[in-house]
Amino acid sequence: MIQWRDTPQRYGAISRALHWGMAALLLWQFVGMGLRVMLGRTPLVSFFVGSHTTVGFTLAVLIMLRGIWALMNLRNRPPHGAGLLGFAAWAGHLALYLLMAVVPGFALLRAWGQERAFAPYGIEIFPPREAPVSWAVEAGHMFHGELAWVLGALILGHIVMVAVHTGLWRDGTFARMAGRRG
Ligand code: HEM
Repeated sequence: MIQWRDTPQRYGAISRALHWGMAALLLWQFVGMGLRVMLGRTPLVSFFVGSHTTVGFTLAVLIMLRGIWALMNLRNRPPHGAGLLGFAAWAGHLALYLLMAVVPGFALLRAWGQERAFAPYGIEIFPPREAPVSWAVEAGHMFHGELAWVLGALILGHIVMVAVHTGLWRDGTFARMAGRRG
């Protein structure tokens, strides 16, 4: 039987779908923007970057659902562990959640403040406006890209720590999110 909710032993099907689905979409965003920084405007870059705002909007919706689901399961999720390492894991996960919300948040703020309409999937979220809201556009320019790279660095750290937990300490951390019992 499918286990939908989280337990202290492992994450349930909803948490796992959100985790791996968002991981794939985040990878798409970073590969696209990484290639853009390295190669400039090429057809390959356009292939990735052409979907950046739509994929980013999808991630913004998913992080809201993920945050709500995490709060609903807070008491029966696998624990972070004791001591300084446990605290570091808790703080690292909190920072990941905050950045996953704030990074698309700044981009959406900019899209709201810009003159052209914002319509991911053809659904008009923000209508066009006569004049831009400069503080919102400026905030997006200043923080969206910069904080996105901080998020990217944190995700790399997250992957390294899972590898250390699983390969070196053999404590079954990966199995909890892979859907196997540790
Ligand atoms: C979690 C979701 C998102 C991630 C991880 C992400 C990541 C990034 C990264 C790494 C860059 C490159 C910054 C640079 O060139 O140094 C970037 C740029 C950009 N993103 Fe996103 N993005 C996300 C969501 C969005 C959304 C929702 C929108 C639009 C509403 C958007 C619009 C843009 C635009 C227009 C740029 C180019 C201008 C700039 O650097 O700010 N992004 N993004």
